Amino acid sequence: MRHATGEHTPGPSGYDAELRRHDRILRRACDVQLHDHVLDIGCGAGQTTRQAARTAQAGGALGVDVSAPAVERARELARAEGVRNVTFEHADAQVHRFPEQRFDLAISRFGTMFFDDSVAAFTNVRRALRPTGRLVMMVWQPPEHNEWDVAIRQSLEVADGPVASVSGGPDPFSLADPPTATEILQAAGFTDVVFADVHEPVYYGPDVAAALDWVRGFTCTSEVLKRLGPAAAARAVGRLRETLSAHLSDDGVWFDSRAWIITARRH
Ligand SMILES: C[S@@+](CC[C@H](N)C(=O)[O-])C[C@H]1O[C@@H](n2cnc3c(N)ncnc32)[C@H](O)[C@@H]1O
Repeated sequence: MRHATGEHTPGPSGYDAELRRHDRILRRACDVQLHDHVLDIGCGAGQTTRQAARTAQAGGALGVDVSAPAVERARELARAEGVRNVTFEHADAQVHRFPEQRFDLAISRFGTMFFDDSVAAFTNVRRALRPTGRLVMMVWQPPEHNEWDVAIRQSLEVADGPVASVSGGPDPFSLADPPTATEILQAAGFTDVVFADVHEPVYYGPDVAAALDWVRGFTCTSEVLKRLGPAAAARAVGRLRETLSAHLSDDGVWFDSRAWIITARRH
């Protein structure tokens, strides 16, 4: 899983590990009930979908993701863990024809920032919700509040100038600004839009080598490294390694981060 763009490479639950401190908080906010039917948007390898299904024992959960390998991995994990009331579909949540008014709850852990047309996407999700349906999603706060983003960008830019920075493409911070996100959700037919601050660190691995491997896989990192020549790329990787080393503690490599949990109701 590569949180910068929504790309997915199945791995040994790296993203689940990265977000271990966020997960508990999101779960509490989702407050899944026994009979709920839950839609997980951009479900990736499906940890949040499986968790929802386990609680909604008399209902179930559907996870959708545009990444075929992610969906395959999600199905494998659900089978391996014996979670039966969960299904996964390889689909673009922006346009997929979900059954109308089917779900009590739509959830997402960092899977809703990458739509081409956010209003169209959330309108599509809203149609899939029952009249009393809720939306609960975790998204990043602005980049300057996320130490991981600042540190990675600085490592990649220091000696090679702003030319190294990534621009365009899917934006993991597209829902970071509350007035903008509120406007999008209201235009899509949601009401009672509320933002809760989540201030927890992200975990990049048990040691610097593992963290470097993980961070090199982020699209924001790999795109920059691809654009640099071999010597400049080697210098950038060296700086990244130093940055990660500076964040190594007894229990691994951690960076400060800030997210929102956005909750809303179908209008
Ligand atoms: C940062 S990952 C989060 C994955 C998962 N929610 C988790 O927490 O492990 C973002 C996910 O959103 C998916 N995604 C991006 N755009 C999407 C879309 N339009 N419809 C469905 N999934 C999408 C990506 O493929 C990716 O798996």
